[in-house]
Amino acid sequence: MSDKAILEFQGKKYEFPVIKGTENEFAIDIKTLRGVANLITIDPGFKNTGSCESAITFLDGEKGILRYRGFTIEALAEKADFLEVAYLLIFGELPNEEKLLQFHNDIRAESHVDEEMKKILDGFPKSAHPMGVLSSLTSALIAFNPTTVDVSSEKDMYHAIVRLLAKFPVLVAWALRKKKGLPLDYGDDSVGYVENFHQMMFKRPGQEYKKNKVVIDALDQLLILHADHEQNCSTSTVRIVGSSHAGLFASISAGISALWGPLHGGANQAVLEMLEAIEKDGGDTKKYMAKAKDKNDPFRLMGFGHRVYKNFDPRAKIIKKAADEVLADLGINDPILAIAKGLEKEALEDDYFVKRKLYPNVDFYSGIIYRALDIPTEMFTVMFALGRLPGWIAQWREMRLNGEPIGRPRQVYIGKTKRPFVALDKR
Ligand code: SDX
Repeated sequence: MSDKAILEFQGKKYEFPVIKGTENEFAIDIKTLRGVANLITIDPGFKNTGSCESAITFLDGEKGILRYRGFTIEALAEKADFLEVAYLLIFGELPNEEKLLQFHNDIRAESHVDEEMKKILDGFPKSAHPMGVLSSLTSALIAFNPTTVDVSSEKDMYHAIVRLLAKFPVLVAWALRKKKGLPLDYGDDSVGYVENFHQMMFKRPGQEYKKNKVVIDALDQLLILHADHEQNCSTSTVRIVGSSHAGLFASISAGISALWGPLHGGANQAVLEMLEAIEKDGGDTKKYMAKAKDKNDPFRLMGFGHRVYKNFDPRAKIIKKAADEVLADLGINDPILAIAKGLEKEALEDDYFVKRKLYPNVDFYSGIIYRALDIPTEMFTVMFALGRLPGWIAQWREMRLNGEPIGRPRQVYIGKTKRPFVALDKR
């Protein structure tokens, strides 16, 4: 029996098909609603509204499940590397050795960034936030890669995708090196994707780069954990910008701006700033818990709560464990970690948080590891963007290959009704 939903309005009944996903999720297909019933729906924040059918990532917020193309985040974080996961998200299957090598070599072939781009970077003050720099430089890349704009064939999309995966880490590294007054240089294309990125970030002029496997493995795992998360704010931004057939680079540039917000990816920076403020306050977590619960105080417990997860964010569990391991391996005793754990414990026992099902999310512990890896706080959200890049690309590609229409929501007008013009001298 095909499922259907019936809507009754002003004495008339309307039937709509109900679609069922592979994980038994149901959705009312209201494509014909305005045509048959002259009705639209309203759903601020799209809390109950699906924007698309997607085969990329599955979340179950109640059970704390996250899977990329059917593989659990736990298995991928433990057994895969970031480039494999990028391939999986974008093309739908884990690559064999030959395909992964070809993918990596195609990326290596595009890993130079036009020297003229350095002049654009020079135009920014050192105080510029790296997320603004990155969004601008990603958009500026279009001028130097014009063939990546109007792409509709899979072949042209692949060309644009490998170019962006190759150049994006360079821009991230240059944004950091500019802040530190270091030469804008490259790493070593012969090593792994994440190791090359780490080298670009931290290689000091005139010094040999020494690989620390613990650091590279931790970074690789963090990037995997951030790689995709179905229709979150920044991914929805990438999809809707891409739906106008703006190119991949322009769509990703918009996604970076959306991710910047402290309610979204910017939370990882806000968490560290909050934990440092609590440390400065002598570790007074109770004061911050009270602020978070005070409706008159705009302060929120950063790194807590989630639109979908009403249970533990599975990524937060993995990152919390990794934080203990990485800091121990690096011999770092960071008091901020103890404050974070204390705050988590208090919140999980507090009725306000329990009632609202507010648990630590991906951003709560990630900054503690980034800090241990010598990544400056202002670069935390940039690291989130680097991790999320393959997910954004996969979602943009799926939207374009599915031939989805331009995103253009309706509205309910609540302004002034028709009225006569009033001449200036009569106002
Ligand atoms: C990410 O969507 C994704 O998948 C995002 C992401 C991804 O991978 O792409 O997972 C990454 O963005 C993680 C979230 C990072 N943001 C933060 O940590 C910022 C702090 N958290 C929140 O601001 C909030 O929890 C959101 C934005 C994450 C979710 O907000 P919702 O779903 O719109 O829920 P809401 O704001 O309506 O909150 C429901 C209630 C409210 O209280 P009441 O009005 O019911 O009394 O919970 C309260 C909120 O005030 N609340 C919080 C809180 N989060 C929600 N109160 C204090 N501290 C918080 N952190």
